[in-house]
Amino acid sequence: MTDHHHHGHDQGHWNDRYASASRLFNVEPDESLVELAQNLPPGRAVDLGAGEGRNSLWLARRNWQVTAVDLSDVALGRLDSAAAEENISVKTVVGDIVEYLNRGEQFDLVVLAYIQWMPEERAKLLAAASAAVAAGGHLLLVGHHLESLGKGGPPQPERLYTEDSLKDAFPGLEVIDLERKERAAGDIGLPLVDVIVWAVRPENG
Ligand SMILES: C[S@@+](CC[C@H](N)C(=O)[O-])C[C@H]1O[C@@H](n2cnc3c(N)ncnc32)[C@H](O)[C@@H]1O
Repeated sequence: MTDHHHHGHDQGHWNDRYASASRLFNVEPDESLVELAQNLPPGRAVDLGAGEGRNSLWLARRNWQVTAVDLSDVALGRLDSAAAEENISVKTVVGDIVEYLNRGEQFDLVVLAYIQWMPEERAKLLAAASAAVAAGGHLLLVGHHLESLGKGGPPQPERLYTEDSLKDAFPGLEVIDLERKERAAGDIGLPLVDVIVWAVRPENG
């Protein structure tokens, strides 16, 4: 099931990027997601800015009930095809993440992978994403660290993450892990630096 919202400029930009290649991003699920979520019981998950859906597909294979939200209908179309081919189910929603979060649904797992927004929009996004974590549920953020500037992620330093900028960014959640993590970027042979946040909403917080 797919429903549609509007978000002109960014949507055009991302659709152009996706249309430029038959596959824009990695097929493999994020390493940290695999490591951290593999021991959780499956529940409801939302993948915010899911793109071609490598993380959504991995979760769906493990029996999570997954909603994938992205501005790009091109990317989500690829996700739909991949899910159909594997005979698994992922609900895709074409639209803006923050508008989607404003509907107020809650999830046992909220995933934000490589969403690199400017600070002001980012603060609102992370607050809304935190509010979408159900009691006892988790949030995973993975993104490009400032130290990857010029090697991975967008060229504007403001869009890259530091540990400091994320310390107090998840209202109502308890941050279990916040760290930088190096990752070998296969094709270019450079070590990239990511930031990882793993947080939980306490059961009776
Ligand atoms: C770098 S890609 C990451 C895709 C995926 N999370 C992954 O790790 O493979 C960023 C994604 O965010 C989406 N995006 C950017 N701004 C968005 C917004 N306001 N609402 C929904 N999706 C958005 C883009 O269309 C793109 O698919």
